[in-house]
Amino acid sequence: MNTDIDLSDVQGNILRGYRFPDVRHYALSVTDVAGGKQLLTALVDGHGDLYPLATAEEWSDDKPDACVNLAITAPGLTALGVPDDMLKQFPASFRAGAAQQAVDSAASSDFGRNGVGLGDIGESAPVNWVVGGPSNPEIHLLVSIWSDETSAPARDRIEAALLAVCAANGVKERSRHTGHTFANNHVHFGFRDGVSQPQVAGRPGNRIADMQPDVPTGDFLLGKGYRNSYGGNFIEGIPGELAGNGTYAVFRILEQDVQAFDALIERTGRRFGIDPELVAAKLVGRWRSGESLAMRPNEPRLFAPARLPDGQPNLAPDKVDMSKPFTPVDEAELNEFDYAPTYDHPMQYDDADGLRCPLGAHMRRLNPRGGTAAGIQHNHRIIRRGVPYGPEHRPGDPDDREERGLLGIFICGDIANQFEFLQMMWANDDVGTPGVLGTRDPIIGWQPPEGGTFRLPTGDNRGDVVISDLPRLVTTRGALYCFMPGIAGVKWLAGR
Ligand code: HEM
Repeated sequence: MNTDIDLSDVQGNILRGYRFPDVRHYALSVTDVAGGKQLLTALVDGHGDLYPLATAEEWSDDKPDACVNLAITAPGLTALGVPDDMLKQFPASFRAGAAQQAVDSAASSDFGRNGVGLGDIGESAPVNWVVGGPSNPEIHLLVSIWSDETSAPARDRIEAALLAVCAANGVKERSRHTGHTFANNHVHFGFRDGVSQPQVAGRPGNRIADMQPDVPTGDFLLGKGYRNSYGGNFIEGIPGELAGNGTYAVFRILEQDVQAFDALIERTGRRFGIDPELVAAKLVGRWRSGESLAMRPNEPRLFAPARLPDGQPNLAPDKVDMSKPFTPVDEAELNEFDYAPTYDHPMQYDDADGLRCPLGAHMRRLNPRGGTAAGIQHNHRIIRRGVPYGPEHRPGDPDDREERGLLGIFICGDIANQFEFLQMMWANDDVGTPGVLGTRDPIIGWQPPEGGTFRLPTGDNRGDVVISDLPRLVTTRGALYCFMPGIAGVKWLAGR
């Protein structure tokens, strides 16, 4: 099994997060094969102020002030001249694309059993999307510029250079999507995000403390002799020169209803006599600080208690020092846990009943770790590179009717087995073990019009507190299934 990765061939945001606070994604259409290839050449080599694609190589000197990445849809491969018989070697989900998979998965009983599929129905249906839907222009490329616009603005000049190359080569900008991270990497709803990521075998950088084993390289990178969790390689029949060191990226624009989240935790807290902050933590599986309920079931420790001395919820970053970086000791606290004893950690507390972290909590459903979800052990990990969009909204702020949410990038070597499995089965399917039976993911799941259900075991004489008026909190506003080639693959596509 090969875990020796040629980092100069792997696009940079796959194996590590850049930790840039700003991102802008450009959805582009190629109108002419030769022009598309010219753009790829400019992206590989750099062109004036357009930086060459960032790779996974360690930064030898200072961190650059920006990084550029490229992802390509299935129609994009065709627009760049990839012949049909080669395209057919790519997996069916990728070729069908996000919108078609949304429709097919909801219509087919092969995907889950409740007519929801990926969950992109109703308001979230592709017909309502701003990108990637049937009423939007066909998108071929997604170019992303990651930067820090506050301390080292770089985007304007890179953008101008990118758009000039596009204009000179018949590549049209169809939409742009701008995100900005809030202090200490917290996202709308007020939680620190990007805390847990799979540790990919062979990736550079320090290994952070985590009770989970490393994930095989082949779950995230194609070809090159890597092995995936099933002992094979997701590249299958795709030529290695195109797909080696490539992977897939699912781009999703997920609108978040922050008012509805705040109202939900307040009214649930009032109704059942539970601190709303504990309700919030139970829905996600971590406290806002990022601490897992599996380790700190009663109150968070890193920042401050959930309530200030005046009784007000201790949520707002101006009251809690959310900008304070975690020390390495703090970081070690965040992922060194499991929900069940495992072979490697036989003494681990067994939270089989979800008394600490409910079985239905967002992060437990989507990564049950050593426990199980719906009786299944997991090998469905994804790398998440999401950044919030829209203005920050703090609890108690009046409803400003602004749209806000997450520009999500979900990276995996197999869209069907990783992203779609999570979205269809663990987030949106209502069959499963007793703790999740009849429920869907409280954060990202579709919920029935009468309100969804969430079980919060208390372990006292109240038994399970059952929340039965869960609104749908996240609505899909757009999506693209993309392939992220390695650098050699981009060159190959450019005809070099
Ligand atoms: C607006 C939408 C979303 C929000 C607000 C959100 C929020 C969060 C938060 C706060 C965490 C805990 C922090 C962490 O462990 O890094 C988390 C973890 C996670 N989320 Fe989401 N998420 C969203 C969408 C999604 C989607 C669409 C997926 C996949 C289909 C997903 C999969 C995961 C996974 C796998 C974890 C890590 C669990 C672990 O490794 O323990 N999330 N999410």
